[in-house]
Amino acid sequence: MAKQRAGYYAALLTVFGMNYITVLGGMLAGISAFLIIGLLVLQLIDMAESPYIGIVAFLILPGLFILGLLIVPAGALWERLKRRKSPQAAPAQPPLLPVLDLNKSHTRRVLTVIVVLTGLNLMIISTATYQGVLFMDSVTFCGRVCHTVMEPEFTAYSHSPHLRVRCVECHIGPGAPWFVRSKISGTGQLFAVLFHTYPTPIPSPVENLRPSRETCEQCHWPEKFTGDRLKIITHYKDDEANTASKTVLLLHIGGGGNPTNGIHSWHISPEKRTYYTAVDEQRQKIAQVRVVRADGTESVFRAPENKYSKEELAHAGERQMDCIDCHNRPSHIFKMPSTEVDAALSDGRLDVKLPYIKKLGVEVLTAAKGEEGDLSQIEEHVRRFYNEQYAQVVKESPEKIEGAIRVLKGIYSDNIFPKMKLTWGTHPNNLGHEQFPGCFRCHDDFLADKEGKTVGQDCTVCHSVLAWDESDPEILQKLGV
Ligand code: HEC
Ligand code: HEC
Ligand code: HEC
Ligand code: HEC
Ligand code: HEC
Repeated sequence: MAKQRAGYYAALLTVFGMNYITVLGGMLAGISAFLIIGLLVLQLIDMAESPYIGIVAFLILPGLFILGLLIVPAGALWERLKRRKSPQAAPAQPPLLPVLDLNKSHTRRVLTVIVVLTGLNLMIISTATYQGVLFMDSVTFCGRVCHTVMEPEFTAYSHSPHLRVRCVECHIGPGAPWFVRSKISGTGQLFAVLFHTYPTPIPSPVENLRPSRETCEQCHWPEKFTGDRLKIITHYKDDEANTASKTVLLLHIGGGGNPTNGIHSWHISPEKRTYYTAVDEQRQKIAQVRVVRADGTESVFRAPENKYSKEELAHAGERQMDCIDCHNRPSHIFKMPSTEVDAALSDGRLDVKLPYIKKLGVEVLTAAKGEEGDLSQIEEHVRRFYNEQYAQVVKESPEKIEGAIRVLKGIYSDNIFPKMKLTWGTHPNNLGHEQFPGCFRCHDDFLADKEGKTVGQDCTVCHSVLAWDESDPEILQKLGV
């Protein structure tokens, strides 16, 4: 027994003890393997949440491990080459590759050691690779590793209805070819981050995004959404009392089951495909729209000849419209000051009883555009206003003003990211037509076909406006809302 063990020690020594290089390689591999396993265990018990631990455990250590494994045979080869060259070896030069004589028990042991270690190594490498892939697909990796670069998108994502959807599910989707493409472009992005050559802000639309029907429709299938949806929008006026008013829309969302009526039934029906040509990067200025029906017939709507210059038109490319041409902000929803202040008033974060808070809030937020000192200016401005105009309020309930300052600063930090040069309206939202052109990029009277027929802007095609800026809409009373 003791003799056998000694034999295996000798075999191990033959594999690793050949020279300093192999020893070094063996140690490198051994220590990396030990640390990888340790960090995997920490992950299992949820102790290693930091994105940097992930990078070390699944990207750097496996790299060092494989490097160590490569050094071991390289050292052995180097040693053999050295022995062949040495003067003692001159008469009977040893062959370059080892001679395997399986009749020798030592050789058999060396082979056993190599086979067992290789099996172990493969296990470690495959586990680390698998975990590495999972890690690179995680929200932590996409959203938090390059913290500054992804901060705007990650912050907005964290408030969105898609918080439980991983970044890769929209950005890459399933399937090997897209996976490989994303890793290739991801490597480029990693270098851009290392050398600070990334653009600020990160541009949108995302180049080469996978067709959204292949990603969104993993979860939302068009047949599912049918019918109308009641939408109640609350705005607040610029007056002292911040008077609330309500707009009630019946949105005709439509769906696959109802092929004639509604937004989805029209725009994502397989019966008709819409192609459009935009002259700007952000796809806001549209020069031509083409609708191709299943039977091959086509309608073309064009902008008047002189609307866009020749240079603009020369760069324009055609694109088939899909989900993200309307839902371009399903997850990174950056809002405008008035929307944010309305929302804060509506859910009580801002006190409706604070005089002029709507007007003031929108003013101070709009004035802040992503420069140093914005936050203290918001604070100063609000304080000054109430000190000068409503000293009584300041005296009676100072906490209301402190609360308002805190909420306004929060709104600022959710939407403005100076380091990435992202400010109000950097990323327009295409769903609607109030703050950005949205649907009216095409549903406007300047795009017309040969007969002069325009893309419809009839106010009842997309929604019925049941109430418009009313303080107490009759329709809501009827519905008992
Ligand atoms: C629900 C789907 C969805 C999820 C989840 C999602 N994104 Fe996006 N993302 C989009 C869409 C759609 C765009 C805009 C694409 C376009 O207009 O071409 C976008 C754009 C971006 C952009 C470009 C800049 C911009 O704001 O338009 C970045 C960067 C980005 N996403 C990062 C992330 C990160 C990081 C995560 C995870 C924390 C994530 N995304 C999760 C759908 C998603
Ligand atoms: C992995 C699944 C998944 C993917 C992929 C996905 N979504 Fe969603 N989506 C959800 C879930 C879950 C919700 C939340 C439903 C809820 O809160 O009721 C949601 C909600 C929505 C909503 C309603 C938001 C609201 O304000 O109520 C829209 C619109 C939407 N998704 C569009 C998209 C678009 C566009 C894409 C592709 C870019 C996409 N989704 C990709 C799962 C997904
Ligand atoms: C022509 C523009 C347009 C296109 C294209 C479009 N949508 Fe929509 N979608 C809308 C509008 C407008 C709404 C209503 C928004 C609201 O409720 O505020 C909506 C609502 C939704 C909702 C919420 C439905 C509900 O019942 O609340 C989901 C989910 C959704 N869309 C997913 C998709 C997916 C997935 C695609 C691509 C297959 C897609 N949409 C394509 C305009 C579009
Ligand atoms: C890229 C151009 C483009 C954009 C952007 C666009 N549409 Fe359309 N839409 C069209 C065209 C073209 C038609 C067909 C008009 C026709 O044949 O008269 C159409 C038709 C429709 C119809 C059917 C109209 C009818 O008469 O029955 C609805 C509903 C609709 N769109 C909703 C929307 C909504 C909602 C949005 C914004 C979220 C939107 N569209 C954005 C190009 C566009
Ligand atoms: C091509 C489709 C389409 C047409 C045509 C259209 N709308 Fe809209 N409208 C929308 C969508 C989409 C929204 C956004 C709903 C939401 O907030 O999700 C919207 C929102 C609104 C709102 C609420 C805005 C707010 O935030 O208070 C009003 C008011 C409105 N539309 C009025 C009109 C009027 C008036 C017309 C006719 C000139 C019209 N719309 C034509 C698609 C359309």
